Amino acid sequence: MTPPLTLHRVTTLQDLEPLYHIGADAFRNDPGLNWFYPGGRDHPEDFVVAWKYLLLQEFFDKGKFILAASIPDPDQDDNTSICVERRPGKVVGFAVWERRGDSEAAKSWQGGGVLKGLKRFLLNLQIIHTFCFDTPRRSLSWSRLRHFGHELEAAKASQPSESWYLSNLAVSSTAQGKGVGKRLLQWGIDRSEEEGIPATLVSTDAGLALYTSRGFRNSGWLFFDDGRQKQTVMRRNVKYVRLD
Ligand SMILES: CC(C)(COP(=O)(O)OP(=O)(O)OC[C@H]1O[C@@H](n2cnc3c(N)ncnc32)[C@H](O)[C@@H]1OP(=O)(O)O)[C@@H](O)C(=O)NCCC(=O)NCCS
Repeated sequence: MTPPLTLHRVTTLQDLEPLYHIGADAFRNDPGLNWFYPGGRDHPEDFVVAWKYLLLQEFFDKGKFILAASIPDPDQDDNTSICVERRPGKVVGFAVWERRGDSEAAKSWQGGGVLKGLKRFLLNLQIIHTFCFDTPRRSLSWSRLRHFGHELEAAKASQPSESWYLSNLAVSSTAQGKGVGKRLLQWGIDRSEEEGIPATLVSTDAGLALYTSRGFRNSGWLFFDDGRQKQTVMRRNVKYVRLD
């Protein structure tokens, strides 16, 4: 049976923390990540560091919405569950959606501000320090990361600028196949339909069945590993329904 699922927007660094482990777990066999972060297989703790900085970047980026999905925590006894908690339950997955574009509608979603920009700048310095001088540098290939990042930017640029872009989707390995990914995906599909603009994403092989079943179609490729491997660029156009 599908467990009751709640979605909430992550707005504090404390709420972001459980997601580092979910990302590291869900993507541990992902060919793309393993290509530009080859040491992660031997050093799983480095995967957690990578996901920490990846998600911190997303947290401070303009226009990004981090959504976490929770189920009731089986380890929480009845006495504690009657306490009033802001967000009870166990986080089992997350999605990062981005409202791209520079229209007034896009700006109304994007927020930003000088302080956020400054925090993002300081974070970049911390990232350079961590992956150039600290232990996790053993796991990262900077040249491959640059290649992958460049391809990802090109894939995004090939899509309509006014769109909802799924920047990340991950579900804990123990919670997969129970509809969590579908719910997190549906949040962005709903926003795109409300606004009448496309939803786009770059899919791993693991995500293809889910995205195809929700109406996304192939609109290009992202190649890596000297063209030997690829991810799928996908778009879901909005179907307009006449109500009269
Ligand atoms: C891809 C991922 C997010 C899917 O999340 P999930 O919670 O397992 O997916 P759901 O249970 O919501 O599946 C929804 C639909 O996708 C399809 N689906 C999911 N996993 C599938 C699989 N392994 N094989 C075939 N179909 C699958 C099913 O058709 C299902 O539809 P249904 O409920 O109508 O049968 C999850 O497997 C994951 O985190 N994978 C590793 C990280 C990753 O690659 N993320 C995608 C980045 S683009």
